[in-house]
Amino acid sequence: MMYAVFFVVILLAILLLLENKKNQERYAQQYIEEEPYPLTEEQIKYIHNSWRRIMPIKEKFAELFYQRLFELDPKVKTLFRGKLDFQGKKIMTTLNVVVNSIDNIKAVEAMLQAMGNRHIIYGVQAAHYETVGAALFWVLEQSLGDYFTDEVEDAWVTTYNIIASTMKETAYP
Ligand code: HEM
Repeated sequence: MMYAVFFVVILLAILLLLENKKNQERYAQQYIEEEPYPLTEEQIKYIHNSWRRIMPIKEKFAELFYQRLFELDPKVKTLFRGKLDFQGKKIMTTLNVVVNSIDNIKAVEAMLQAMGNRHIIYGVQAAHYETVGAALFWVLEQSLGDYFTDEVEDAWVTTYNIIASTMKETAYP
């Protein structure tokens, strides 16, 4: 008789534990929803394919980019104290790293945030990111020609927004 009571108590305890675990899983599922990745696989392909076309002309690309940036906002020229061709090499190297990690942006998130913080020291303001974006899209259009379709442009707009918002998020909280 003692054994029977003991057995029933153990059985009830196991049933309670199982029910509790099921409830916890249900609760977790309610709150952990996978965020959709901001770029589709097709857009990632557009970014990689266009970057392959840009890398062989990266010096010209950087030169045109700064020309256009200073045309759009001549005041930002005073922020650049070093040599522009050297600066051009640095921005192209960084964009290359980011483009190569575009299917896993988390891998370069900390690097982009640290770079965004350094940009405050250079005197960069949050609004400058719009002018830099406009200069970048212009030079992409000039460099890619017919390849710069609406779909490719959309992929670059999303990519630039990911880069700029990650750089800005800790710099201008
Ligand atoms: C896509 C966004 C951007 C990228 C990838 C980028 C990349 C870089 C890199 C790699 C450097 C070298 C120094 C460092 O790593 O800290 C740099 C410096 C600099 N960037 Fe940016 N940048 C971006 C946005 C901007 C914006 C919005 C401005 C505003 C005009 C800006 C202005 C500057 C200035 C003034 C310097 C210092 C140049 C010097 O010392 O001569 N950048 N940037």
